[in-house]
Amino acid sequence: MQTTASHKESLLIVEENLVVQSLFGEALQRKGYRVGQALNPDTGLQMYSKNAVDLVITNIQFKNSSGIEFLFELKRLDPDVAVIVLANITDLDMARRTVAYGIYDLIPIPFELDQVVSAVAKACEKKMLLERNQLLIEKQATLIEKLHRSYMQLKELDKLKTEFLVTISHELLTPLSCIKSLTYNLLHGVVGELDPKKKEYAQLIQEDADRLEEILRDILNFSKLEAGKMVLIREPVDVNAVIAKVVRAMQPIAEAKNIFLRQMNPKPLALVSADRARLEEILANLIENALKFTPAGGKIELDAVDHPEEIRVTVRDTGMGIAPENLNKIFAQFTQFHREHGPGSQGIGLGLAVVKKLVEMHGGIISVQSQVQKGTTFLFSIPRQESKIGRT
Ligand SMILES: Nc1ncnc2c1ncn2[C@@H]1O[C@H](COP(=O)(O)OP(=O)(O)OP(=O)(O)O)[C@@H](O)[C@H]1O
Ligand SMILES: [Mg+2]
Repeated sequence: MQTTASHKESLLIVEENLVVQSLFGEALQRKGYRVGQALNPDTGLQMYSKNAVDLVITNIQFKNSSGIEFLFELKRLDPDVAVIVLANITDLDMARRTVAYGIYDLIPIPFELDQVVSAVAKACEKKMLLERNQLLIEKQATLIEKLHRSYMQLKELDKLKTEFLVTISHELLTPLSCIKSLTYNLLHGVVGELDPKKKEYAQLIQEDADRLEEILRDILNFSKLEAGKMVLIREPVDVNAVIAKVVRAMQPIAEAKNIFLRQMNPKPLALVSADRARLEEILANLIENALKFTPAGGKIELDAVDHPEEIRVTVRDTGMGIAPENLNKIFAQFTQFHREHGPGSQGIGLGLAVVKKLVEMHGGIISVQSQVQKGTTFLFSIPRQESKIGRT
């Protein structure tokens, strides 16, 4: 605690007793404080309003007026006023009530001068800390305001990005459908038979046009999801039946790649309230990924298990896995890894972002576990029909 002449705080002593006045004044001036002195509350108030005062030291009893009233007026003048009150033992009870006026300290009379000096130092320190705290609070408020503004700007930019993606995908789909129909005509001999080389080229154009269309539809789909423009059409759904359907549909691709794709022994499940088409989309995306990132000879297994509130579905593969540092990034849009390795190079990194949004729209959650070169397991939940989670 500093009680040296380096002090700059200014104090105001309000005390009728001239002996006490000068005792205080001298002792505190010696400690480096600037000291103003008033003999009664009225003068005290006038001095307080005209000068910058850090701390008031006042008696609680005056001959012609009450110290309580003085404190009340002081507080009205400055809600942050700092005060030390001196009170006779007989007035202590009354003095204690002054706590309501934010009194920093209460010193019973008689007192030791040192006691007062140390109370003044403590009060000044407390006031300084409170002021610093207030400054920090104000700074924090400014920062929060700045952050909020940046967030709103980013949100606006994000909205623009989504609008841009929607517009550009729409615009590109129109000429693309023209390219597709002309290629179709070429391949089907509308302008005469093509020689094998031309046919091969036309086929390549068709395949790439199909792929491009798929990408543009993915972007459109995702943008709609982002803009909250997609509505779920819910109905009671048996998850096992949906898994069976999607597995059946993707079996030819798995066989062509020599990958063993199967649904684990289905156990009876409670129904979920879901959008069947979207649930198929979630599963198709996860299986498509598993097929892309699993080498020939690998295995993909799907399982669904009943839990009190939800059905949990797992899609497990024995593929190349995902490095631990990438695991928390894969659900972000346009994020892809190991694209350089042939089969994984297709797509634009939207699949999992769509899957996550769709699962969450259903009120479920999705997570992933993976070990490099061993395989990956995606686990997602869909609330049961009677569950309170995720009902809209
Ligand atoms: N089963 C998996 N095994 C290994 N890596 C995976 C698996 N699933 C996803 N990933 C990684 O996560 C990335 C993001 O997947 P996501 O489905 O979002 O994009 P994509 O499949 O590359 O493209 P898109 O789905 O748009 O066609 C993938 O590029 C891949 O690096
Ligand atoms: Mg994908």
